[in-house]
Amino acid sequence: MSLRNALPMSRRSALAGIASLPLLGCGSGALSGGNATSEALNAAAQRSGRRFGSAINWNGRGGGGSIQNPQYTDIINAECGIVVPENELKWQWTRPAVDVYDFERMDAIAAWAEANGKALRGHTLLWHRPQWFPEWLNNYDYGANPVQEAERILTDHIRTLTDRYRGQITSYDVVNEAIDHDSHGTLETSLSRAMGSPEAVLDLAFHTAREQLPDGELVYNDYMSWEPDHRAHCNDVLRLLEGFRKRGVPVDTLGIQSHIEIYSIDPASGVGPYAEAEWRAFLNEAVDMGYKLMITEFDVKDKALPSDIALRDAKVAEYARRYFDVMLEYGELTDILAWGMVDGFNWLQGFAPRDDEMEVRGTPFSTEYQAKPLREEIVASLHEAATG
Ligand code: GLA
Repeated sequence: MSLRNALPMSRRSALAGIASLPLLGCGSGALSGGNATSEALNAAAQRSGRRFGSAINWNGRGGGGSIQNPQYTDIINAECGIVVPENELKWQWTRPAVDVYDFERMDAIAAWAEANGKALRGHTLLWHRPQWFPEWLNNYDYGANPVQEAERILTDHIRTLTDRYRGQITSYDVVNEAIDHDSHGTLETSLSRAMGSPEAVLDLAFHTAREQLPDGELVYNDYMSWEPDHRAHCNDVLRLLEGFRKRGVPVDTLGIQSHIEIYSIDPASGVGPYAEAEWRAFLNEAVDMGYKLMITEFDVKDKALPSDIALRDAKVAEYARRYFDVMLEYGELTDILAWGMVDGFNWLQGFAPRDDEMEVRGTPFSTEYQAKPLREEIVASLHEAATG
C-alpha cells in the first residue's frame, strides 16, 4: 500500500483547505526579496494550509541573523509567516539565577514579531541536557525537599514564560532533546536526580504547559533526520513518544529538527545517503500514535560535497527536495521552519565546518542575500504538495 493510501484522511484534510486559498504569487508581497523570482516560501506553504518560517535572533553572530539587520529582516519579512528565537528563550538567556528572570532579548524578538505581523513559536521551555543548563542549575542544591524544590523551579519557569507571552506564543517546544545518544535512555540532569527520574521531569513539563495553554500546541523536539546513521536515535524517540502516550502525557506534535546532512556521496542517488523506507516507517509510527509533525530547524550540512559552488548548491537543493517531497506527503505536517535563512549567519558554519574552509551553503539564501537553488526547490516541492 502506498503511503498516500495509508494516510488518506490526513492527506485529504490537508488538501481540503487548499481549494479555498486565493492564488498567491501575483499579488504584491507574494514574491520574495533578493533575486528570487518565484512565490514566497510562506505563500507557497499556505497553499497546503501550512506556514513557512525561520529562526531569528536578537543580536547573534555579530548581529547577522538578527532583528537588527535590515537585510536579514527583509528576507524574513518577504519569506516567512512565523519566526522562532534561536536562543533567546532558553534557560541560559532567560533565567540567570534561580529566582531571577531576564526577558530583555526575548521581549525584543517578540516585539519585532508583533510589529511585523509574524507568528512566534516558543523554543524551548526545557532543553533537557546538562550541557545546556545554566551553570547554577547544574550545581543547584535542592535542599531537604528535593522533589518539591525541583518541581517549584520547573513549574515556575514554565508558568512565567507562558504567562509572559500569552496570546502571542501558542506553540512551544516544551521539551527539547531529552535522549542520551549513547545510552539510548532519557538523560539525567540535576532536575531529574532531584525528582527521581527524567520521565518525572518531562511529564511535569508537559502537564504544566497544558494547564497553562489548554489550546496550545505542545511539541517534543529532537534532532531527527533521514540519514541511515540517525536510525537508532529515531527508535529511541519513538519509545519516548510511546511512553508519553501510555502515561497520558499531553504531547501534540513531534518536532523534527531536520538538520539534514550529506555526509558522503551515495553512488546510487548522487547525493547523500538517506534511508527513505525506514524514515517513512518512523514517520508512520509517530503519526499512528496520534502525533502531528513539524519541521522545526531545517538546514543542510554539505560536508561531503565538492567546493564548486554551483555544483554544491544544486546538490544541496536536490537532496532537500527529496526530503521535502517525502515530508509534505504527510497531512500531519504543519509548520516548516528553517534554522536561519542566510548561509553566513547559520550555526553550521561553527558546528559542521567544511574541510576546504569554505562556507557551508545549507540555507535558502547566500551570505550576499541572494536566493539559492535550495529556496527554489522548496517552493517547487510546496507547490507540488498543494496540487497533489
Ligand atoms: C539544536 C537546538 C537549537 C540550536 C541548535 C544549534 O538543534 O535545538 O536550539 O541550539 O541545536 O543552533
